[in-house]
Amino acid sequence: MSTVAQILLSKPSHAVHTVAPTATVREAIEQMAHRRIGALLIVEGERILGIFTERDYARKIEVRGRTSAGTPIRDVMTADVMFVTPATTTQECMALMTDKRLRHLPVLDGGQLVGLVSIGDLVKEIISEQQFVIAQLESYIHS
Ligand SMILES: NC(=O)c1ccc[n+]([C@@H]2O[C@H](COP(=O)([O-])OP(=O)(O)OC[C@H]3O[C@@H](n4cnc5c(N)ncnc54)[C@H](O)[C@@H]3O)[C@@H](O)[C@H]2O)c1
Repeated sequence: MSTVAQILLSKPSHAVHTVAPTATVREAIEQMAHRRIGALLIVEGERILGIFTERDYARKIEVRGRTSAGTPIRDVMTADVMFVTPATTTQECMALMTDKRLRHLPVLDGGQLVGLVSIGDLVKEIISEQQFVIAQLESYIHS
């Protein structure tokens, strides 16, 4: 069973993209579009204050009468952030994402932010694990 540590190793970078709580939603979605990512963490110094995702944008801006240029991200972020650690297994991450309806899980190691895993990262890891098992079984059958 693979872990978050292995998923982080397979990502091109461990850097976690963030914005300050005073940034506007417009600035946040511009950064998300530029980096082609679906989530940003809201941080102040070392403190993680929240997470903002495409879903927050879809549910909390226009449909609630807000404008992205006139709304600070701290007003619409999700403050209750669920974390995992490098030792968390892919299965535990999938269970957490399914139960809590999340697509992004920041990774903390000893209280330090060391990465972020998305649902796409997990699916990619699970598919490659399954392909490995299938290849092993095929070689066993044909030997
Ligand atoms: N081929 C791959 O390696 C791969 C990996 C992940 C996702 N995807 C594809 O990208 C699309 C969207 O993916 P998603 O729904 O998982 O979410 P996403 O678009 O938010 O994530 C895309 C990638 O960016 C990373 N990422 C997102 N927010 C980040 C942040 N704030 N800081 C650092 N890294 C961050 C994720 O970990 C993931 O690797 C899907 O089509 C998925 O299949 C492909």
